[in-house]
Amino acid sequence: MSINFPMHSTFLALIGLSFFHSVSSQFSPGFPYGSEKVRGVNLGGWLVLEPWITPSIFDNTGNPNIVDEWTFGQYYDRATATNVLQNHWNTWITQNDFANIAAAGLNHVRLPIGYWAFEVGSGEPYIQGQLPYLQNAVQWASQYGLKLIVDLHGAPGSQNGRVLIVSWYDNSGQRMSYPTWQSNQTNIDRTDAIIKQIASMFAGQADVVPIIAPLNEPAGYYGSSVLTPLRQYYYDSYGNIRYPYGTSTQSNIVVLLHDAFQPLSYWSGFETPPNFQGVAMDTHIYQVFSNADVQMSWQSHINTACGTQSTLSNFDLWLMVGEWSPAITDCATYLNGRGNGARYDGSFPGSTYVGSCTGLTGSASTFSSSYKTFLRQFWEAQVISYEKSNGWLMWTWKTESADEWSYLAGLQNGWIPWSPTNLQYPTICG
Ligand SMILES: *[C@@H]1O[C@H](CO)[C@@H](O)[C@H](O)[C@H]1NC(C)=O
Repeated sequence: MSINFPMHSTFLALIGLSFFHSVSSQFSPGFPYGSEKVRGVNLGGWLVLEPWITPSIFDNTGNPNIVDEWTFGQYYDRATATNVLQNHWNTWITQNDFANIAAAGLNHVRLPIGYWAFEVGSGEPYIQGQLPYLQNAVQWASQYGLKLIVDLHGAPGSQNGRVLIVSWYDNSGQRMSYPTWQSNQTNIDRTDAIIKQIASMFAGQADVVPIIAPLNEPAGYYGSSVLTPLRQYYYDSYGNIRYPYGTSTQSNIVVLLHDAFQPLSYWSGFETPPNFQGVAMDTHIYQVFSNADVQMSWQSHINTACGTQSTLSNFDLWLMVGEWSPAITDCATYLNGRGNGARYDGSFPGSTYVGSCTGLTGSASTFSSSYKTFLRQFWEAQVISYEKSNGWLMWTWKTESADEWSYLAGLQNGWIPWSPTNLQYPTICG
């Protein structure tokens, strides 16, 4: 074939360069993670129940043994449970929430979903029906120009269940004394198959679903018994998410790995370019889940947030703080698991009284103006600090009765600005 237009060496070099460029980095993410900040919010407690986000759903069962979504399916009348869940899915998050999230100047939502939305094993009591809502959410995200992160929040066997001996975790769907996901290859194989399914669902939609997070908060604090199978799972997830077509063609979807509560240095060099591309790391930062945390003064909470900056600004993958909160107590009802009290008021085993929870959780109408001012300062200190990474997603958009955790309540009551760059305390970290 002949080429009929005049060429000189500069032109050839340009063609050559751009051709080489398009071959060597065909990967083109749905959001410019390296140059724009992720500013987002989690849609917690919607497609995965969490008792503290919607305590009424659990209280209404009248059964104290219903402590998570597993036992909700196990012990509650099946027809009633199904009705309650369907009503919840229809009302907790709607198109209007996506409109408000976009109006609040955010660019991302992270949507937790459990494995049981895709596949339920025999003897597992979970109730299905979440997938149409995932599809709705993606449609609404597209409509309002938001990017949606699909986050596998619960895996077969549970990947967390409990944090050492200090806290119960119900957010994998199943609270238990020791996670069993990692010790049973059947569990891991099932999870791989679900990630493949999610990856092929959204393979061509990286502009709306730019990220898949293959596992939320695996219990890396148990050491190599979890971390060794987890690292293999993360390699397999890379293949499943980045190559969803069964060919050498890559998707444009980013793989977001949770740090498994390890220091970022533990993951240094893991799945880094040039052998891997399109991998990001997710770290979660809370200041409420230990006795020492809830004993801190308001100023110490701010200082602690500001103190994360050097670590967050220095990592070899894209990094985001995928969960964090302006909460400074564990007072929210059922936050430590249904039936458990709070460290802050000494009602949690092994804790000592710091103060009364009154006025620190519940409705913002009970919050003092100084507390609301503090919430704004702490929120801003975290936003400023977490933007040293590639961005942040606050936990969580809505709660029934813990306004200190609610992005929406923060907007409505003035401690979160309607534009996340509209800071009142831009020098709070000095
Ligand atoms: C492994 O997990 C599967 C469910 O994923 C379960 O059916 C099976 O009994 C488990 N095996 C063992 C040895 O616990």
